[in-house]
Amino acid sequence: MSPLEQAILAFDRSLRVFALPARATRPYPAESVPDVEMSDASRKTSGGLMRVNHTGEVCAQALYQSQALFAKGSDTRLALDHAAQEEWDHLAWCAQRLKELGDRPSFLNPLWYAGSFLMGAASALAGDQWNMAFLVETERQVESHLDSHMSSLPTEDLRSRAIVETMQKEEAAHADMAESRGAAVMPAPLKLAMQATAKLMTSSAYWV
Ligand SMILES: [Fe+2]
Ligand SMILES: [Fe+2]
Repeated sequence: MSPLEQAILAFDRSLRVFALPARATRPYPAESVPDVEMSDASRKTSGGLMRVNHTGEVCAQALYQSQALFAKGSDTRLALDHAAQEEWDHLAWCAQRLKELGDRPSFLNPLWYAGSFLMGAASALAGDQWNMAFLVETERQVESHLDSHMSSLPTEDLRSRAIVETMQKEEAAHADMAESRGAAVMPAPLKLAMQATAKLMTSSAYWV
């Protein structure tokens, strides 16, 4: 694709994330899970945590899009596109749960989207083994972050839990996929920088 075609595709995909309500292609994991009565405090906690997860999935869209767009090999691009489709469902599920909780997405999403897009592009341009290394580290961090949410979500919020559990399994599979595609070993300072960025995202999205 020419740079212009790439730019148009990137713009079109960002419109899909922000301008239209995300529609999942697979069943909602909370579909048959009872929506139990929750206190205002619990609902607020769940709303904050699911807002963080929603922002994480907005970032995932940006990352996967730029990582696929600038991937060196066509097979790498295909693998990224496949995982991105699952991430699209995650985005739709988080949006749906936020709505059910009477809450809203983060106001900072466009900022995180832009930042993630640039980070994904940089890792892809460094070559496929670094593209995969970045993916492994991102997904492993998301996996452990979702694990912490299984402890912090109110116990009665069975619907959010069902969504987080499904996402966690799929994030782990995305990391495994990237590892099996010859991911380089990410240097420790880069891992720390990614952790610090993720911390900034999760703590701000909970409130804003
Ligand atoms: Fe995800
Ligand atoms: Fe993932």
